[in-house]
Amino acid sequence: MTDARRPDGPGRRALALYRDAPAAVRAHVTIRWWSAPFRRVVDVLPQTGRILEIGCGHGLFSAYAALDAPGRDVLGVDIDADKIGAATAAARELDRLQFRVAPDGAVPEGPWDAIVFVDVLYLLPADEQRRLLTEAVTHLAPGGCVVVKEMGTHPRWKVRWNTVQETLSVKVLRITEGSDFDFVDPRTMGGWLVGLGLRVRVRRLDKGRVHPHHLLVARSS
Ligand SMILES: C[S@@+](CC[C@H](N)C(=O)[O-])C[C@H]1O[C@@H](n2cnc3c(N)ncnc32)[C@H](O)[C@@H]1O
Repeated sequence: MTDARRPDGPGRRALALYRDAPAAVRAHVTIRWWSAPFRRVVDVLPQTGRILEIGCGHGLFSAYAALDAPGRDVLGVDIDADKIGAATAAARELDRLQFRVAPDGAVPEGPWDAIVFVDVLYLLPADEQRRLLTEAVTHLAPGGCVVVKEMGTHPRWKVRWNTVQETLSVKVLRITEGSDFDFVDPRTMGGWLVGLGLRVRVRRLDKGRVHPHHLLVARSS
């Protein structure tokens, strides 16, 4: 499994979808590509089936997942209507890729073969994170999985660096919807999902990166 920074073929095609977007959107998706280990996340998704991304933002990860495997039908939802507008415009030529505003943050009706969260849960209080993950599990298809890419709570210097950046993004510049953040240890989230009967794997994805990226994959039977 690679953690290449340079966009691969599907990554280049996903970024190219934003060529007509405003400069701020293009800058944002480009920064997302370089700062998040999308390849490592997309690699754990099923090659076929219905994929839901909750908190998709401008939709780059959803677009990448759809372009990476022609058997995937991807829906991205977010509470931010402006971001969904930009995502919808970018995806206009791809009918396997849809976007929708989820004003109340609810999980769209399943069944889903995979439900993905990429740097979203930390914007919610811990009890709301648990509630949303629990709701997501009820919308999984048999054998489906919940995939969570969030920042972990170690190593400490990476956590401190990430906290400074998120304070700027969420509280000062207000680039990201939300008023606070709550980084829950992915192993704690794993425990919640084990309690719901899923098989869970948590691993670090932060090698060679300044952010404490972690990946959790929880499979139903
Ligand atoms: C840091 S961005 C990540 C966007 C995207 N997943 C990515 O990796 O580029 C977090 C996103 O979560 C969205 N968000 C926050 N709370 C949400 C909720 N309850 N339901 C859906 N989206 C939410 C925000 O609007 C924002 O677009």
